[in-house]
Amino acid sequence: MADKRTAEILKGARAEIARAESSADLEQVRVKYLGRQGILTRLLRSLPALPAAERPEIGRQANLAKAEIETLLAGRLADVKAAERHRDLAARRPDLTLPGRRPTGGTLHPLTLVLDEIVEIFLGLGFAVAEGPEVESDFYNFEALNIPKDHPARDMQDTFYLSEDTLLRTHTSPVQIRTMKAQPPPVRIICPGKVYRRDADITHSPMFHQVEGLAVDRNISMGDLKGTLELFARELFGPATEIRFRPSFFPFTEPSAEMDVRCVACGGEGCRLCKQSGWLEILGSGMVHPRVLQMVGYDPEEVTGWAFGMGVERIAMLKYGIDDIRLFFDNDLRFLSQFSAS
Ligand code: FA5
Ligand code: MG
Repeated sequence: MADKRTAEILKGARAEIARAESSADLEQVRVKYLGRQGILTRLLRSLPALPAAERPEIGRQANLAKAEIETLLAGRLADVKAAERHRDLAARRPDLTLPGRRPTGGTLHPLTLVLDEIVEIFLGLGFAVAEGPEVESDFYNFEALNIPKDHPARDMQDTFYLSEDTLLRTHTSPVQIRTMKAQPPPVRIICPGKVYRRDADITHSPMFHQVEGLAVDRNISMGDLKGTLELFARELFGPATEIRFRPSFFPFTEPSAEMDVRCVACGGEGCRLCKQSGWLEILGSGMVHPRVLQMVGYDPEEVTGWAFGMGVERIAMLKYGIDDIRLFFDNDLRFLSQFSAS
């Protein structure tokens, strides 16, 4: 004979489970019947107090009821969860009319942008691009440029030596020599690339970029050099740019000149970037020394030429108004992402 209390409990539980609409409802039902103070739990706990004759049968029925409630709860919970997920998805149906989210793209490094611009200007003037190795021999970096061993001019460029005879090139000028040795005049090239020096402050970096320029032909004059560089500066910095040439010295050019551009940071007033001078040096240049022409097998009586070597970081600093060269190499995305092709 079925125990009346168990049958009542089971009836109530079945009805409530069937009515439950959410996992929260089901949890309430579970606690009500099977929780620590639950109706069925209390019944099971009271078994020892029953007369010995009734105990086994009532106990068996109560345990069966417990198992059935657990099964019903689990089954209904699965249904309710599925329904809840359905409602949730329906509520969050994506709005297909919203604009898409753009993936964040990279930007070109400011030095790449400036280097590309420099190369474009000279390509437009009829120059070709030449390249050379960054690990260079003492011969091309110094000797062939009229800088013999023990020449004091070697101190002008603090060199990273790899061995007695090989080094990291300190400038792009060795590419001049390599090019002239490989072809007869006329020559009109630019050579962009990395160079290395033991040098570091707000305007000097141990690795930096230069663009070498070289023009050799009959009747090439210092006037052509000046005109070309003036045109270049106006193209790059704008027509109002102030530039100046200063006499200088390089063993491989004679005469030699350095070109300065008005400091952008202070407009010429004097600041830490221009070391209070109001100007920033961007390049060295001059007429190719006759001895260099001879060394590559050119006849200095037949041809003349000029050359220049410009610092790309300095030019980028002027163009973008950057007052510390080290910013280019910190790889801070907040800095780098501000530049884009103009
Ligand atoms: C030279 O390197 C010569 N080879 C340039 C040259 C070529 C002269 C052809 C005549 C004919 P200089 O050491 O001054 O010269 O360097 C040229 C330019 O590189 C400088 O004007 C400056 O803009 C840049 N520069 C030099 N050292 C550094 C450095 N450590 N960091 C960043 N830029 C530098
Ligand atoms: Mg210099």
